[in-house]
Amino acid sequence: MISMTYNIALLRGDGIGPEIVDSAVRVLEAVGEKFGHEFKFTPYLIGGAAIDECGEPLPKETVDGCLASDSVLLGAVGGPKWDNLSGEKRPEKALLGIRAALGLFTNLRPAKLYPALKGDCPLREDIASGGFDIMIVRELTGGIYFGDRGYRTGKYGEEAYDTECYSRFEIERISRVAFETAKKRRGKVTSIDKANVLETSRLWRKTIHEIEKEYEGVTCTDMLVDNAAMQLVRNPSQFDVIVTSNMFGDILSDEASQLTGSIGMLPSASLGDNTRGMYEPIHGSAPDIAGKGIANPIATILSAAMMLRYSFSLMDEADCIEAAVDKVLNDGLRTADIIGDSGATPLSTTEMTDAIIARL
Ligand code: IPM
Ligand code: MG
Repeated sequence: MISMTYNIALLRGDGIGPEIVDSAVRVLEAVGEKFGHEFKFTPYLIGGAAIDECGEPLPKETVDGCLASDSVLLGAVGGPKWDNLSGEKRPEKALLGIRAALGLFTNLRPAKLYPALKGDCPLREDIASGGFDIMIVRELTGGIYFGDRGYRTGKYGEEAYDTECYSRFEIERISRVAFETAKKRRGKVTSIDKANVLETSRLWRKTIHEIEKEYEGVTCTDMLVDNAAMQLVRNPSQFDVIVTSNMFGDILSDEASQLTGSIGMLPSASLGDNTRGMYEPIHGSAPDIAGKGIANPIATILSAAMMLRYSFSLMDEADCIEAAVDKVLNDGLRTADIIGDSGATPLSTTEMTDAIIARL
């Protein structure tokens, strides 16, 4: 086996960010030991922590450090302390900034129902029993998140505006990711838009079906976003790969995450043109439980597994982490957010991490 060193930038961020990132680091170290790899971690400031320390949410040093790394692991940013800052200075701005700076136009958000967590799924049993395994492919560096915005004086006085813009180029490249992803799965893409209203959606729809022709054996159906929000709770098992714009993907991935039982379970990978990616749980900084040691570290640990798979091509190592998570759940171990009606005693963040490491 070739032993490799991988340089990972750590963006712990705010709230529960530091606790869950440290859990994932411990899991990576254990995997490194088991498989003979060295993971080197370099922390950088981001979000509120960076505002407190250097007056800005995304210091240049952080961007440079991430660009010089092999991959990035992020916790979460934001919290009530920084909620009254203006748009440009908010911690969330750092997240958009780092995604753009690293060219991470793809966001993969897998939402699957673990058999052991069926009881936590808020859907009626006859719907949940079908299970689901969805890969949401969210466009991450375009659309309304990055469009022209501002304040001005209009007919009724002060007004604010945000604009959505998508280029054919941006739609083509995210479409290809969706089709490539579907090829390795069940071959079914659902493209979600609002083509009955939005011009960007009409270009999206037209473009994706042009790209579809390049992919044999993969089908692509369109669905309007309002219908998609409904279909996700009506029959989630109908979806394989979902591809959608930045904002629709943001909203639908939170909806899908809750179907898995807890948003504390969902990892994500943000990818661009090279192997450097950024990996983070899809949940936020959860200020209400920060520092209490009770956060569910699984989403971040599974994000680390995605890093091994997508950035480092360490497939066995990634499988090993995912299998360990399966085992803890099957063994009935739970953090507070996934207790459901299991009657289990909630584990702390550290205890859950130890339990996963013990099962690697
Ligand atoms: C997410 C988050 C971010 C987003 C926020 C914090 C800017 O909700 O990653 O889903 O909207 O992209
Ligand atoms: Mg979100």
